[in-house]
Amino acid sequence: MTPTVLVLSTSAQLFETSARRFTAAVGEAIEARGTAHVALAGGSTPAGLYERLSQPESRARFDWKRIHIWWSDERAVPPDDAASNYGMARDSLLRHLDLQPGQVHRMVASPASLEASARRHEEEVRGAVPMEGEWPRYDLVMLGIGADGHTASLFPHHPELAVVDRLVAPVMNAPQWPRLTLTLPVINAARNVIVLGAGITKARAVARALTGEPGPDCPASLVRPDPGHLLWIIDEEANRIRGGSLPWE
Ligand code: 6PG
Repeated sequence: MTPTVLVLSTSAQLFETSARRFTAAVGEAIEARGTAHVALAGGSTPAGLYERLSQPESRARFDWKRIHIWWSDERAVPPDDAASNYGMARDSLLRHLDLQPGQVHRMVASPASLEASARRHEEEVRGAVPMEGEWPRYDLVMLGIGADGHTASLFPHHPELAVVDRLVAPVMNAPQWPRLTLTLPVINAARNVIVLGAGITKARAVARALTGEPGPDCPASLVRPDPGHLLWIIDEEANRIRGGSLPWE
């Protein structure tokens, strides 16, 4: 699956383009199956997208009552903690929407029982996200990329990269917080994957992810949905090495 890469000049263009692509993927799913299952990305970059989606003109583009909100990963912190991916999405998007509780599937990551948290969320996914073959097929998985090439909570050379028999994995020795993450087979089973990247700190990771062979040194390079679609939406800063305006080494 060759990724489509969109390079935008400004943050406003990045988030408007991302909002339109998000809306297109969700609209297609609702049209085809009556429901859309979307896993939101964590970190800070997507906040601009979620704020854009929360605006009236974006909200009007599809029936939000038909969307199920999931997460690609979550830190093992309380939902009101500034590090919570759920908290960020709630504050920038969900609180503006009139969603029913059953539409929002928070990835509850309890630090004291992360394995049990992973199993619980996996059961929730299995009970709601339509299976195709052996994997649940999200209509859209949103991802970010770290400066080290991690995506979701899949970190370079970490054992979770090799997990192929689970939907959700606990990540005990992750930087800063223990976490839960969707596994690569689930991400790569999605109909659409959109990876957002912004800023010069991501330039090396973006260049590595989009050139050369996929490898465990850069988990984002292992995101290869098939037959789903892979779209990277990055700004010019994040493109500066891949785009050739900065030396690779
Ligand atoms: C997480 C995220 C992670 C994020 C990248 C980029 O929970 O840490 O899911 O994969 O997307 O670290 O984060 P920023 O957008 O904050 O740079």
